[in-house]
Amino acid sequence: MGSFRIQNQSFSAPLDPRENGGFVTRSVPRPYVVEFPQSTRPSESVAKLIGACRHPLLLVDGRVAQLHLDAEPSLASVPRFTIEANEESKNIQTVLKIIDFLETNRATRTSMLAVVGGGIVQDLGAFAGYLFKRGIPWTFVPTTLLAQGDSGMGGKTALNHKKTKNLLALFSAPRRVIIDTGFLDTLGDNDMLSGMGEVFRLHVTGGVDFLTAFEQEFPRFKEGSKDALLRLIIGALSVKRAVIERDEFEVDLRRSLNYGHSFGHALEALVDFRIPHGIAVTIGMLVENEVALRRGLLSKSERDRMLRAGRALVPAASRNELASVKLDGILELLRRDKKTEGSALKLVVVESIGQIRFIDLELDTPTVGLLHDSVAAVVHAL
Ligand SMILES: NC(=O)c1ccc[n+]([C@@H]2O[C@H](COP(=O)([O-])OP(=O)(O)OC[C@H]3O[C@@H](n4cnc5c(N)ncnc54)[C@H](O)[C@@H]3O)[C@@H](O)[C@H]2O)c1
Ligand SMILES: [Zn+2]
Repeated sequence: MGSFRIQNQSFSAPLDPRENGGFVTRSVPRPYVVEFPQSTRPSESVAKLIGACRHPLLLVDGRVAQLHLDAEPSLASVPRFTIEANEESKNIQTVLKIIDFLETNRATRTSMLAVVGGGIVQDLGAFAGYLFKRGIPWTFVPTTLLAQGDSGMGGKTALNHKKTKNLLALFSAPRRVIIDTGFLDTLGDNDMLSGMGEVFRLHVTGGVDFLTAFEQEFPRFKEGSKDALLRLIIGALSVKRAVIERDEFEVDLRRSLNYGHSFGHALEALVDFRIPHGIAVTIGMLVENEVALRRGLLSKSERDRMLRAGRALVPAASRNELASVKLDGILELLRRDKKTEGSALKLVVVESIGQIRFIDLELDTPTVGLLHDSVAAVVHAL
């Protein structure tokens, strides 16, 4: 059992919360189960889900369908809407097309929309599932590490609108989440690293026992251990579950899950998204740790421990992007952060491993200097 604190509240979370192959997450208006089936092929997990539904409908990532589902005969007769997953398609127009598909196929509250894909397909399916006739049930089968180890549980969903990423947003929780790591066999290296960045963030958030587990399992994962990969996903979700069960709708403490994202999002924009999201988050965590160190909040030895663990995730290309980034526009980017109120950004910092705090970071010229020094320190250490 790991324990950690956010502000003045204590949390505890088991390293592996599974009972009978899954665990329950409390949610409003109803709890849902996160399952980890042991199948020989990932298509089997989807076929089993579909087979158990009275009126199934399938929303699937086109690439995933081609790689994993097209050879499964039992899925051929299920009405299907295929998505080409990219940020340009993650918008309200695509959601309206999915709604037309649901209407054409007479979806009702007794239907089940099976959503199979990564975060993009999740966002589209969750949005359509929420809007259609005041909501129909949807089940998520995440196929990327980011979606399996982080976004798939928690109910947040967002669409891009005009030029703004994730501008249209709401909460829409699935009825079930089915995690089959077999899908990850075909995921690209960058997407794998990106997801691992979020998994790392959740382990650091979870305190000493979770960080120790990450330090043990990550090298095994690098050597190809499927078991280590599954343990890392389960550990990340266990920490996330503890937080969202306390504050599902991000009234306060759930903001801690944005650790690494304030600097991470700004960095992504500064390098034109050439650093994968989860890696930008990992770098964001390390830079935000430097800020905490320089504010006298974090000890050098704990900073060093997180640095050692995080360093292993950052590929040379991302390090080089960081080394040559110009911080000129950073204040403007941080002012647009949703955690900025007035002239200050509410920054999530790790005060010690297992203690998260929110601090006010004034968005002024001395802060640019502080960030400059913090980035230089991280570049040097990477
Ligand atoms: N709702 C949330 O809480 C939440 C949280 C974080 C991120 N997101 C959103 O998720 C999106 C990113 O999602 P993502 O990183 O999961 O990936 P993605 O959905 O963007 O997919 C990335 C690429 O991988 C491909 N792919 C997916 N599964 C595959 C597999 N098993 N094998 C081979 N290729 C596969 C896709 O076709 C796509 O080309 C962003 O739009 C982000 O805003 C949502
Ligand atoms: Zn993220």
